[in-house]
Amino acid sequence: MTRYIDVSDVRKLVTAIGAQPLIKTLAEYIRADYLRWNEFEKSARVANHFPDGVIELMPTSDSELYGFKYVNGHPRNHRYNMLTVMAFGVLAEVDSGFPVLFSEFTIVTALRTAATSALAASVLARPDSKSMALIGNGAQSEFQVLAFQAMLGIDEIRVYDIDPLATDKLLRNLSGFSKLKIVRAASIGEAVRGADIVTTITADKTNATILTADMIEPGMHINAVGGDCPGKTELHRDVLTSARVIVEFEAQTRIEGDIQQLAADFPVVELWRVLSGLAPGREHRPQVTVFDSVGFALEDFSALRYLRDVAEARDIGTMVELIPTPTDPRDLYRLVAGNPGIAANPVIAANPVIAASPVFGRAGSPKLASVF
Ligand SMILES: NC(=O)c1ccc[n+]([C@@H]2O[C@H](COP(=O)([O-])OP(=O)(O)OC[C@H]3O[C@@H](n4cnc5c(N)ncnc54)[C@H](O)[C@@H]3O)[C@@H](O)[C@H]2O)c1
Repeated sequence: MTRYIDVSDVRKLVTAIGAQPLIKTLAEYIRADYLRWNEFEKSARVANHFPDGVIELMPTSDSELYGFKYVNGHPRNHRYNMLTVMAFGVLAEVDSGFPVLFSEFTIVTALRTAATSALAASVLARPDSKSMALIGNGAQSEFQVLAFQAMLGIDEIRVYDIDPLATDKLLRNLSGFSKLKIVRAASIGEAVRGADIVTTITADKTNATILTADMIEPGMHINAVGGDCPGKTELHRDVLTSARVIVEFEAQTRIEGDIQQLAADFPVVELWRVLSGLAPGREHRPQVTVFDSVGFALEDFSALRYLRDVAEARDIGTMVELIPTPTDPRDLYRLVAGNPGIAANPVIAANPVIAASPVFGRAGSPKLASVF
C-alpha cells in the first residue's frame, strides 16, 4: 500500500507541529541531503514550456529512494482563481520501484522553498541581519517571512507588491505574529533601502528588473526566488556581476536562474560546497551575496523524506492501493478478468455514460467494483 497525503493531512501536520518548527526541521533534512551531494543522481528538471506557463518534472535519487515532483508555474492563473504554482510529489523505493508515498506538494513546496532560502541565507547573509525586504506578496510570501524569522531572527519585514490586495492579504495573515514588525512600502526602492536581506519572489513570465544595481547596498544578501525559468528573471544583470552568486545545481541554474543573462563562464558557487565548508559563503562584510534560487529536486526529495518520517510517526494520511499487489505477481490480468462485477453490475449497466467511460469500462479491481 502507498501512503497518500492530501491537503487536509498537510494542514493537520502544520497545525500540530507549527509552521516555524516544521520549517526548521525541514531545513535540517535539506541540509543533511546537500551534505551528501555526491550520493545523488542529479539532472536539470524536465520543463515543458507553454505560452502561459511551464510544467516541470523534478526527479532525483540516492541508493535507497527515488523522488520526483510534478510542478507548474502559471503566473496568470490568479485571473481564473487558481494558484500560480501547484504540485504533487512521489517517493519510491529504489530496490523495488514501489511508490511508498504520494503527496500533496503545493503547500509543501512553499514550506521547502522557504526552508531552503533561509538555510542559504544562514551561510550568506551578515550574521547580524535583522531586516528583510520582501518583494512579491503572493502564495509563497508568508512562508518566507516565517522561515527567516525562525531561522535567522529577522523581525522587521518591509513588504511590497504591485497588487496592493496581495500585500493586504499578507498583512492580514501575519497580523497575529506580535514579534514581527511588518512595514508596508510604497515602492520597491523604499522596501529595499537599508534592508539587510532582500527577497524577490514575484511571478511574471518575463525578464523583469525588480532590482537594479542602484538599489543594492554593501553587505546586502539577495534571496532571488522568482526568476526560475528561461525568459523569467528578476535581477538586472549588473546586480549579479558585482555580487558573489550561489546556486543550487549549476547545470540547471545556467538555464533557469537569473544568471541565464550572463556568460556561461560567469563564476558561481554551488550551495552544497558552502554548506559542507568546501567554499566560503560570505567572504567579507561589505560583500553583496545573491542566492539565485530556482528550486532543485534534492529539496523536494528531502521534503518527501521528511513527510514519510513524520506521517509514519504520527499516522497521518491514508493507505491506498495505488499499485496492484496480486497474489501471483505475474497474474495481473486476473485482477481485471477475474471480476465479473463490472459488466454485470446493475448500476453500471443502467447508466450508459458510465458503462461507456474508458475509465470505468476498463477498470475492474475488486475495490473499484465495490464502489458501484
Ligand atoms: N525558486 C524556487 O524554489 C521557487 C519555488 C516556488 C515558487 N517559485 C517562484 O516564486 C514566484 C512566486 O510564486 P507564488 O506562488 O508566490 O506566486 P503568486 O502568483 O502567488 O505571487 C506572485 C506575486 O508577485 C507579484 N508581482 C508580480 N510582478 C511584480 C512586480 N514587478 N513587483 C512586485 N510584485 C510583483 C504579484 O502581484 C503576486 O502577488 C513564482 O515566480 C514562482 O515560480 C520559486
